[in-house]
Amino acid sequence: MVKLVKASFIAFSLFLVACAAPNKVPQSLYDEIGGMPTVEAITDNLINEISFNETIYRYFKKTNIRRFREKFIEHLCVNTGGPCIYTGDTMLRVHQGQNISETDFNLIVDLLVNAMKKAGLTYTQQNQVLKVLAPMRVEILYK
Ligand code: HEM
Repeated sequence: MVKLVKASFIAFSLFLVACAAPNKVPQSLYDEIGGMPTVEAITDNLINEISFNETIYRYFKKTNIRRFREKFIEHLCVNTGGPCIYTGDTMLRVHQGQNISETDFNLIVDLLVNAMKKAGLTYTQQNQVLKVLAPMRVEILYK
């Protein structure tokens, strides 16, 4: 009898602990910013920003924008921890031959920040996205 009471007490205690600590699975940045609708909004805003920026638009004159949109969405999704598969080319391959300068790289970062702001990302979230993309610089600059 004492054993049964003890077992019930332990089971009840475990139940209480489980209730007090709800599942705290860390959210991906992708989920945190709002998932696919936000990733699409950022990409569309970026394309819009590019189209109004003469310096950057020069690079995209011959680009198939439909493809760019599709691949950029996949890329941003994957790199923020979303459930996508990137089917585009490597950053090196895509930007090879464009001889992208540091100034123009920074300019695209500014456009991306505008695009993220317009999509409703907080300052912290914007920085988290930039932190993920920043290491790609070496594959993109002066190639
Ligand atoms: C971290 C920064 C950047 C990221 C994450 C990025 C990402 C991408 C992605 C995912 C694509 C599509 C890949 C594909 O079609 O397979 C792309 C294409 C392109 N990117 Fe970037 N990019 C970045 C910086 C830049 C910069 C700084 C420039 C120019 C100033 C640039 C110019 C282009 C152009 C022109 C294309 C289209 C190339 C074509 O027509 O085939 N990108 N980029």
